[in-house]
Amino acid sequence: MVKLRSDYKAPSCVVEEAYLNIDIHQDHTVVTTRLVLCTVDDAPFMLNGRDLDLQAFRLDGFDIEKDKWPLTDGGLLLEGLPAKTIVETVSICHPESNTALEGLYLSGGMYCTQCEPEGFRRIGYFPDRPDVMTCFTVRIEASRAFPQLLSNGNLLETGDAGDDRHYALWHDPHPKPSYLFACVVGDLDCAADSFTTRSGRNVDLHIYVEKGNLDLTGHAMESLKKSMSWDEERFGLEYDLDLFQIVAVSHFNMGAMENKGLNIFNSKYVLADKSTATDADLHNVESIIAHEYFHNWTGNRVTCRDWFQLTLKEGLTVFRDQCFSADMHDAGVQRAQDVSMLRAAQFPEDRSPTAHPIRPESYREINNFYTATVYEKGAEVIRMLSGYLGTDGFRRGMDLYFSRHDGQAVTCDDFVAALADANEIDLSAFSGWYSQAGTPRLQVRRDVSSVDASIALIFTQTIPETAANTPREPLPIPVRLGFLQADGAPAMLRRDGENEARTDHVLLIEKAHEVVTFYVDGSFDGAVDELTPSLLRGFSAPVILDDDLTMVERLNLMTHDEDLFNRWDAAQSLLADAVIAYSRGQGDCDQLARCYQQILADDNLLDQFKASILGIPGIAVLESRIKPADPVALHDARLALQAALGQALCDEVDACLANQATHAETAGGRALLNQLLALGVAAGNAAAVKMAGAQVLDANMSLSQGALRALMDSESPERVSGLKAFHDRWQDAPLVMEKWFQMEAMSSVGGTLERLEELMQHKAFDPNNPNKIRAVLGAFMAGNPARFYAADGSGFDFIARHLIDIDKRNPQVAARMALPLTRMAAYDDGRKAQMLYALQQIQASKPSNDLGEVVDKALAASA
Ligand code: BES
Ligand code: ZN
Repeated sequence: MVKLRSDYKAPSCVVEEAYLNIDIHQDHTVVTTRLVLCTVDDAPFMLNGRDLDLQAFRLDGFDIEKDKWPLTDGGLLLEGLPAKTIVETVSICHPESNTALEGLYLSGGMYCTQCEPEGFRRIGYFPDRPDVMTCFTVRIEASRAFPQLLSNGNLLETGDAGDDRHYALWHDPHPKPSYLFACVVGDLDCAADSFTTRSGRNVDLHIYVEKGNLDLTGHAMESLKKSMSWDEERFGLEYDLDLFQIVAVSHFNMGAMENKGLNIFNSKYVLADKSTATDADLHNVESIIAHEYFHNWTGNRVTCRDWFQLTLKEGLTVFRDQCFSADMHDAGVQRAQDVSMLRAAQFPEDRSPTAHPIRPESYREINNFYTATVYEKGAEVIRMLSGYLGTDGFRRGMDLYFSRHDGQAVTCDDFVAALADANEIDLSAFSGWYSQAGTPRLQVRRDVSSVDASIALIFTQTIPETAANTPREPLPIPVRLGFLQADGAPAMLRRDGENEARTDHVLLIEKAHEVVTFYVDGSFDGAVDELTPSLLRGFSAPVILDDDLTMVERLNLMTHDEDLFNRWDAAQSLLADAVIAYSRGQGDCDQLARCYQQILADDNLLDQFKASILGIPGIAVLESRIKPADPVALHDARLALQAALGQALCDEVDACLANQATHAETAGGRALLNQLLALGVAAGNAAAVKMAGAQVLDANMSLSQGALRALMDSESPERVSGLKAFHDRWQDAPLVMEKWFQMEAMSSVGGTLERLEELMQHKAFDPNNPNKIRAVLGAFMAGNPARFYAADGSGFDFIARHLIDIDKRNPQVAARMALPLTRMAAYDDGRKAQMLYALQQIQASKPSNDLGEVVDKALAASA
């Protein structure tokens, strides 16, 4: 059944308060819900319930006979209620056999919950929609074998429940929707710390982990405290309870979840130190801790009216966590990383059968809409709004948003209205970014006139057709830009209609076609046609830029632009062009290498930046540049470019390797060392291969994993011995073994289908653990193009077979992992036919609603 955004109806009841009793037993759990309901109108009111075994149903204390229960497919449909009623339900659920990991389930011996978006209905009967908010009181009872009985808010009471059982009573004073409910029952270790808010309140911070993992919680705790301070400073937002709890669980469908006062995390985003996690992993932990913490205001205090508004909280919170990361680290490097992710995940989605606007108009399964579009493109839209209003204007808007809507469930329109009203500005032009799918293409051409020393920029925007079939009106596109002289110095130009010349300009392109003219400053004595435009600085809008720059101009930007993002981006274009040239047998990287030599020698640049500018775009980005794309050939060409660069930069590689110890001291140094090591290995540099083999054994995980990655596509014995050594060293560390699975699966040399089958039989593999599935099958699809896209279709068949199997246990994970199979449009007819066949096999297996929606869309688009 398809749900439409336009069908929204406000709830017909208010829940004045909610009491839950959760009574956990070894082979079942009994859940009682007691709700004080007040009617708003006389439309029916649904208490959702799914896979529950109803035991009792009471109205104002009177038991209703079983044959009079208003049970429907989706739950209990209440009709004709008096103005105020106390409704009670008693039902049974089975966490012990829950492999979908939604609702209440068991993970590594502990009970935990995942309710967003619609998991609460698998726990007990309740109006499971985000616009029904209420204060929860929760009683949890379980065997004393589980010392921790955790829920949201404040602990009111604990006590004995007889029979070697105990209970805890929790009350959350903040009204919340059911999706933010959580409970955890287990025998856990707790890392405790505290934070004093800027108004002087003390907040206890607890991080619960499986026994024996306490020594891996330090980084998460520091990250939490940094996040709390940052939100106070940047947005004036303080935490609002006396206790903040985080629980790390090993079985989790996503990364982490912002349940009020009780965040639940995939253990891989909590447990980390320098010996078990890379610098990139540690950075990830920090940003995810921040993200979930920031939801306390953007998501929890102000939540979504309905799930079509998901980007209201997710796009905004991703924007906030990106700003946090930019402040904690280097802003230019962070921006490059965020845009890289957007291009690798969101752009492909926007041209795929599952394309949708950041605020979708319809869905079959809401779980399928936690997408790169809702998240990453949603964050880009907030970034454009924030840039348009300026930092202070955006802050004014946020302040008004919170003061107006605290405690409410609202829409994206409410958010934009608050920004507009606080700044007395009309933002209606931006609404198209919420309703239109597809990545706009922005073409920029130059008309240079030496007569009046001017450069006219001719902008043409086109909105592509997508599977979502949304309108294709021109959008407001902020374009930050500047000009460089031939020697790289910034040039001062005056925009037509303005009085002052500057080196950095911001335009808002609103029409399909616009021309903006710039005049050079009187002080400039060079030729206008020697100026290089630096367009879309900082990636000021999520568009595909089609410019007319020459290679020499791009090299100029790459070496000199004052905007670090555009230096990186110029390199991305040049690298992509080079890979494509190699794929046609015309590769050459001499000029690029000379430019890199200059960059590597520049003491003013951070190592982290040097490492990031050396990163060659991945297949998902490369394949958007040619049609039809051959991912296997692109992979080979990518390796060829790496080898050529490694050769051309052999002095730099050798110098860096000779200086390994110094580089090993900082995160930036390690990143750069790993990049150069990979180039050296790709070039067949015997010293580099030997060093990589040794570096695998380093105590620092960034160095160890970096060395293994460098060896991944090499035929050398070091790859085999390195993987073996890594395995033997970490076989008892489940999280680190995920890295081993990944690297095994990603190797174009060793990652054969037979090897993947072996990996899935390994004792560290758990078919019910999404991390492990992703580490083998996910890494294979994303990181082993040579075998996943193998010309004979064997990779597609293999994945289809496994998805059908996974879908029976965990539909959400299966649906998410099926996405690469739906991205057929880029390829030639042979590959398309093979992908189609794989999708048909899945469709014939009668997949879940989750997987069915994805597969049906892909098949419909190809029909
Ligand atoms: N609210 C989500 C978590 C979620 C979404 C759980 C859907 C279950 C279903 C959370 O805030 C989130 O967005 N988590 C991201 C990580 C984040 C850093 C972008 C995730 O889990 O991938
Ligand atoms: Zn989120």
